[in-house]
Amino acid sequence: MEIISKSSEQTQKIAQELATNLQGGEILCFSGELGAGKTTFIQGLAKGLEIKENLTSPTFIIFKKYQAKNNLEFYHFDLYRIQDPQEILDLGYTEIVNSKNNISAIEWSEKIKDQIPLKNVIHIKLEYLDENQRKITIN
Ligand SMILES: Nc1ncnc2c1ncn2[C@@H]1O[C@H](COP(=O)(O)OP(=O)(O)O)[C@@H](O)[C@H]1O
Ligand SMILES: [Mg+2]
Repeated sequence: MEIISKSSEQTQKIAQELATNLQGGEILCFSGELGAGKTTFIQGLAKGLEIKENLTSPTFIIFKKYQAKNNLEFYHFDLYRIQDPQEILDLGYTEIVNSKNNISAIEWSEKIKDQIPLKNVIHIKLEYLDENQRKITIN
């Protein structure tokens, strides 16, 4: 599915809508350059998952955990700074993404291509078109 978003608000609405269809166990893998809107999209997911806390970019930590609706836990990974996939494996990555109780959103997932499970994965690509427009591809 391809959508052109014309504002960050629209991107968050699209994400919020997607969030209502998540049940637990999904792994959302994001690709797109810096400023493409990955974190903005994930903020919309957080809204849709009824997360009360403000979702900020986990710049100096690799992931952050949030309490979501229906007793689900939401994990936001930002792998921009990792050098080696082993770094996230050491933090319990495999258990986190394989739990049906968790929903994971991973920015810069291309850095851990070989560690992405084969099942329950949703790929979301964000592309910069102009200042306010982004192409969002979800599959
Ligand atoms: N249509 C849009 N969708 C998402 N973000 C947008 C859009 N238009 C402008 N922006 C802006 O682009 C920036 C995206 O930043 P961010 O979500 O942090 O990107 P990333 O996490 O991919 O580096 C934000 O400042 C946001 O307000
Ligand atoms: Mg980001």
